[in-house]
Amino acid sequence: MSKKNETGYLSAKESRRISRENRRITDQLEKRHKRKNVPESEYLTQMKDPNNALEIENLHTYFFSDVGTVRAVDGVSFDVPIGKTVGVVGESGCGKSVTSLSIMQLLQRPQGQIVDGEIRLNLGNGKCYDITKTPTERMQNLRGNYMSMIFQEPMTSLNPVFRIGAQLDEVIALHDGEGKSKEEIKERSIHLLEMAGIANCEGVYNMFPHELSGGMRQRVMIAMALSCNPKLIIADEPTTALDVTIQAQILDLLRNLKNKINSSIMLITHDLGVIAEMADYVVVMYAGRVVEKGTVEEIFANPAHPYTIGLMASKPVVGKKVDKLYSIPGKVPNPINMPDYCYFKDRCEMQVEKCSGEYPHMIQLSPTHMVSCYRYFDGKVGE
Ligand SMILES: Nc1ncnc2c1ncn2[C@@H]1O[C@H](COP(=O)(O)OP(=O)(O)OP(=O)(O)O)[C@@H](O)[C@H]1O
Ligand code: SF4
Ligand SMILES: [Mg+2]
Repeated sequence: MSKKNETGYLSAKESRRISRENRRITDQLEKRHKRKNVPESEYLTQMKDPNNALEIENLHTYFFSDVGTVRAVDGVSFDVPIGKTVGVVGESGCGKSVTSLSIMQLLQRPQGQIVDGEIRLNLGNGKCYDITKTPTERMQNLRGNYMSMIFQEPMTSLNPVFRIGAQLDEVIALHDGEGKSKEEIKERSIHLLEMAGIANCEGVYNMFPHELSGGMRQRVMIAMALSCNPKLIIADEPTTALDVTIQAQILDLLRNLKNKINSSIMLITHDLGVIAEMADYVVVMYAGRVVEKGTVEEIFANPAHPYTIGLMASKPVVGKKVDKLYSIPGKVPNPINMPDYCYFKDRCEMQVEKCSGEYPHMIQLSPTHMVSCYRYFDGKVGE
């Protein structure tokens, strides 16, 4: 815990102490990542349910910064069943991207580290890996082949100085190129562009990213992500930068391609409309924790957590006239200094007496619906 002086700022001495302590912790964790020739038995594990593509259990991902430890993901658990789409929603900064980067082992290291928990990835051949223990050299083979990620901003994900074709060919050659000639790889790249709904695929193959529109670039990213038929697709706000019609097309494309290769999607978005259209299950995150999860019907018809209720109230409804849309008052607590009670308490308009107690654990409302809120303790709602 960082000690601030009376001005509210960290002293130079205190800042140096934090840096030293951070280095000690991250050096230890880095050593584990970089080990060579780690026996597979160290990261082999068992899925709790073989029908899941991914199981995240009690994941803690922290950033060891010079002003203190940011608990970006602080005990997140949820599953992604095979063939299903799980939507992850939550306010900006609640840890959605950090969760997905943890799954891909693409955190900004050495500051960003998984400090606790398990991420079990079902490889589909009877094997399952715990990503938190998988060494970096093995991860290169898992990314692309078993899981891939579509990022929010395609322009920053594509390399501006290489043609689209060269970038797609490289991915295929690296992950799926064994025994394939250059012509065969090119043919596959063009086929992928066609599958992603690009009309002039031969032309686009020879273009640079800046010659494409935002929607086309996003399609290229989708083609790239799906090039090796991954079992799990993580889409981090794949349509936020696009207008509504292109957004609908991209979502359709993603859904069709997912069904074609029978994979699962973890879809991160701010947009509840996108969730309603795409997701089978919904996970609601707040300040680095899951506050509610359930099927899409449960979350939309019976939102239980006051934060989810607020989110639902803040979306426009066709045919309902309102002067001003509802917005949740207040702001998220400082991730460096989280309270020891419910993180939503300072903004919650539905508090009960017990809410000053420790952080509420998850309560089961149905076999698939869980919420972490004192209102549902003792089986009584809103005492
Ligand atoms: N590299 C980093 N160094 C320090 N803190 C970071 C870093 N990356 C993310 N964080 C912190 O982790 C927390 C979660 O960030 P994250 O990017 O996961 O939010 P998000 O839910 O994806 O938000 P958005 O909806 O805006 O994309 C934030 O408090 C953020 O400041
Ligand atoms: S536990 Fe209490 S403060 Fe927290 S969300 Fe539920 S009602 Fe609100
Ligand atoms: Mg994000």
